[in-house]
Amino acid sequence: MLANGLVLLALSTLSYAAPANHLTTRKSSSSASHGGAKARSALTADGFTSQKWIDAFDKAVSYVEGMTLEQKINFTDFQSVPNGCSGLGNPLPDIGISQGICTADGPTGINSRYSTQFPAEVTVGATFDHDLIYARAVAMGKEYHTLGAHVPLSICIGPMGRSVYGGRNWETFSPDPYLTGEAARLSVQGFQEQGVVGLVKHFVGNEQEYLRVGTPRGYFPNLPNQTVDSFIDEASLHELYSWPFAEAIRAGSGSFMCAYNQVNGSFACENDHLLNTVLKKTLNFHGWVITGASHWGAGHDTVNSSLHGTDFIGWAREDGHLFGDALAPFVENGTVPIEVVDDKIIRILTPYFALDQASLPKTDFTRYVGSDYSTETARKVTEGALTLLKNVRSKDNKHGLPLHKPRDLLLVGSSAAPAQSGILHNLGFDYAGAVNPDFSGYSSDGYGSGGSPAPYNLDPTAAITARGRKEETPVVVDYYTYDNPTEGQTPAVFTGNGTNYFLDTKLAYSNAAVVFVTAMAREGFDRTDLELLNGGSDLIEYVADRHNDTIVVITAPGPVDMSRFVDHKNVTAILYAYFGGQEGATAIASTLFGDVNPSGKLPFTIARNVSDYPDNYYNGSITVNPVANFTEGVFIDYKHFDAQEIEPLFEFGFGKSYSSFEVYDVAVKAKSKKMPASVRETNEKLFVDDKEVSGLYDVAYEVTAQVKNTGSVAGAEVAQLYLTFPSTTPNAMPPRSLRGFSKPHLAPGACEQVTFHVRKKDLAVWDVTLGGWTLSHGEYKMAVGTSSRKIAETVSVKL
Ligand SMILES: *[C@@H]1O[C@H](CO)[C@@H](O)[C@H](O)[C@H]1NC(C)=O
Ligand SMILES: *[C@@H]1O[C@H](CO)[C@@H](O)[C@H](O)[C@H]1NC(C)=O
Ligand SMILES: *[C@@H]1O[C@H](CO)[C@@H](O)[C@H](O)[C@H]1NC(C)=O
Ligand SMILES: *[C@@H]1O[C@H](CO)[C@@H](O)[C@H](O)[C@H]1NC(C)=O
Ligand SMILES: *[C@@H]1O[C@H](CO)[C@@H](O)[C@H](O)[C@H]1NC(C)=O
Ligand SMILES: *[C@@H]1O[C@H](CO)[C@@H](O)[C@H](O)[C@H]1NC(C)=O
Ligand SMILES: *[C@@H]1O[C@H](CO)[C@@H](O)[C@H](O)[C@H]1NC(C)=O
Ligand SMILES: *[C@@H]1O[C@H](CO)[C@@H](O)[C@H](O)[C@H]1NC(C)=O
Ligand SMILES: *[C@@H]1O[C@H](CO)[C@@H](O)[C@H](O)[C@H]1NC(C)=O
Ligand SMILES: *[C@@H]1O[C@H](CO)[C@@H](O)[C@H](O)[C@H]1NC(C)=O
Ligand SMILES: *[C@@H]1O[C@H](CO)[C@@H](O)[C@H](O)[C@H]1NC(C)=O
Repeated sequence: MLANGLVLLALSTLSYAAPANHLTTRKSSSSASHGGAKARSALTADGFTSQKWIDAFDKAVSYVEGMTLEQKINFTDFQSVPNGCSGLGNPLPDIGISQGICTADGPTGINSRYSTQFPAEVTVGATFDHDLIYARAVAMGKEYHTLGAHVPLSICIGPMGRSVYGGRNWETFSPDPYLTGEAARLSVQGFQEQGVVGLVKHFVGNEQEYLRVGTPRGYFPNLPNQTVDSFIDEASLHELYSWPFAEAIRAGSGSFMCAYNQVNGSFACENDHLLNTVLKKTLNFHGWVITGASHWGAGHDTVNSSLHGTDFIGWAREDGHLFGDALAPFVENGTVPIEVVDDKIIRILTPYFALDQASLPKTDFTRYVGSDYSTETARKVTEGALTLLKNVRSKDNKHGLPLHKPRDLLLVGSSAAPAQSGILHNLGFDYAGAVNPDFSGYSSDGYGSGGSPAPYNLDPTAAITARGRKEETPVVVDYYTYDNPTEGQTPAVFTGNGTNYFLDTKLAYSNAAVVFVTAMAREGFDRTDLELLNGGSDLIEYVADRHNDTIVVITAPGPVDMSRFVDHKNVTAILYAYFGGQEGATAIASTLFGDVNPSGKLPFTIARNVSDYPDNYYNGSITVNPVANFTEGVFIDYKHFDAQEIEPLFEFGFGKSYSSFEVYDVAVKAKSKKMPASVRETNEKLFVDDKEVSGLYDVAYEVTAQVKNTGSVAGAEVAQLYLTFPSTTPNAMPPRSLRGFSKPHLAPGACEQVTFHVRKKDLAVWDVTLGGWTLSHGEYKMAVGTSSRKIAETVSVKL
């Protein structure tokens, strides 16, 4: 390898070195193998538990030692014509980066119509199913690999969902950090096993879209000094917002995208404490931090970006290059030490080598990358997510769900039909809330960079018609796909009465009326309210006033206001369908007809009254450095409702089934089990009685429970473990925190034991003074149930 003069430079005075690691991890051979020259990276191999990653790190270090300064500077820059990618780095052909590292948007799928539109992450969260979360990541990872994209921008775990109005909440799994942490871990694993980087985003505090880049709505112009400042205390940062990111690091996540907002007064992408101290030291992150400058909107300053932890600028408009030629003079005069640049490149190349990305095909966004496997997986995920919130069976079993041999079935509402503008895609980023009140049609996805075009999209009318044909006596399916119930009248000459609306006539002869309603959300814009679009509540009320078997199907990014129809006697069933992707309507049809037994659970809380949701939002005037002060700490979503003793309409973790289940025999026993990270240990410390102890992520207790299907149809139930911290806990903690979930699939009468592994970290809180996690002495209650409020049995342990 060609050496250059810079090899001899001493290690930077910048103290990036990782603190001592207590865990036994295999060591890198790099320090010995370079003729005595120390690896010139702040990143070390300490913490890697995988030889493959250690080897990749060594390879990256020695490769960078052979790069010329010009090559290094060049590699930090991006290409202005990104070739279909959302961002494209510069090539290093001698190691197989022939076109540049390609980052490609997600998270519901690739931004190409030749790929699968998967269910959105909120839908995945609702499955509470480890296998499905992992399967979706594998299927998506395969598609990005076939596309030739090194880095899918696809695992969104921030926003956490602090505000119910957050425009991007649907792009993430849940406001619960444990559920999101499990989803992050499994998703990173699934993507990286397919040879693409499991990038997670946005680190951290991007909890609202309003003023995220200094403008009230949207993306431009980017006004740095008006960018919202998320003021987050350190304990909440660790206990809530960075919790899933820590899981992603342990699983090996090769890249993080930082956030648009400020955190505590400096931009998240230029925040020394956040990126260099919290992320790279405490959490021991081994990968690279990416942002975009003026186009993506989060990077602003060359020196602050490069010194404070951003490793790569994804893309910018022409005037927005922060690295490359813009960085060169600062490196030349020592403002930015060359070691800092080396560190960045080593971080970028380590995952590249570890995932063997030289074998990726040439990036081609016109290549068809969908597959039957993806389609199947997308459908199964939505089937596992659909959440039955209400179901009132009549005595004769003919009302409610599943449908009981209907002869005539009526589908009502524009959301039962294809969107007038065609398949939802983001080419125009065109849904803008009130700006586009004419929105209509079935929505399988949200809008913005996080949405994905679909190669096809079956609408509910098509899917239900097809399914109805398969009944022994085929179902006659009719539809009324207006949202205004008085659209069109049967002429008086036929009725002798001019007031008979089409919808009335249809309602009179149909056995069941399924009303489809929608709410929408998108990047760049927060939801302004929780109303259904196009007067959805009016439509439901109109139908329910006239039909005693009114079934409601809601496609939505998160909670909607159900107060006007939820208690209506004639609303016999409510099915929550989230954003189901291209196979969403198929899953809805299968569920309505009972081929699929619903087993999804709400990954968020639906309030009885919208005013029950806390503000958790900066909605003040546009000013310099507007502050969103996260004073509520960790009390978001159900933790707020529990602490304030507010009865929700449907609680976190709630969802009904066509069967019934019982959870019993909950037992706990101490169990000491090592849980090494699959790729990288963090440097988070754990204290007991102010003394440091080891094994933060090791299992301390095992909780078991029996789950029995007591009904007459096969189905799945999600057993959920909730922790109550002891009264001696120094931090204010919620009454209940999710710490385990398990979803057995059970035949009628069948019973299965579920096991939850409770780790020390699951029982710990963040001690600001010690700068680490701490366990308190006292009684820890562990409750197992089928929602955050339906608890079967509680056990406890004393520490
Ligand atoms: C810098 O990157 C461009 C491609 O983006 C390439 O044409 C050029 O040769 C590179 N320069 C060096 C010194 O590697
Ligand atoms: C904020 O930035 C704008 C330009 O975007 C500038 O005109 C204005 O003076 C700045 N305000 C303050 C208080 O820095
Ligand atoms: C934000 O500031 C508070 C108060 O100074 C401090 O306790 C906390 O550690 C800071 N958080 C971050 C993420 O920098
Ligand atoms: C760079 O960061 C420092 C410290 O966070 C801050 O004071 C300064 O204003 C920043 N400079 C620019 C140009 O953003
Ligand atoms: C280094 O170069 C940059 C860009 O030319 C300049 O702005 C900065 O003042 C220089 N710093 C020093 C210490 O010379
Ligand atoms: C006209 O039709 C409406 C709606 O179906 C019905 O309520 C009303 O009784 C009818 N009136 C007459 C005179 O038939
Ligand atoms: C913020 O305030 C504006 C103006 O009062 C209002 O239209 C909007 O609904 C509010 N948004 C939220 C999320 O509170
Ligand atoms: C329920 O529907 C029936 C028609 O099937 C209607 O007569 C009745 O008034 C409705 N009930 C309510 C509470 O609206
Ligand atoms: C619902 O309405 C239908 C048609 O009007 C009627 O035959 C049936 O008895 C009603 N069922 C219930 C449970 O009210
Ligand atoms: C919802 O809350 C608001 C404000 O607290 C109150 O005015 C309203 O009556 C409540 N609505 C219901 C249906 O309870
Ligand atoms: C946030 O709120 C806390 C508690 O009220 C207060 O101490 C702190 O100064 C506030 N921070 C900012 C930046 O407004």
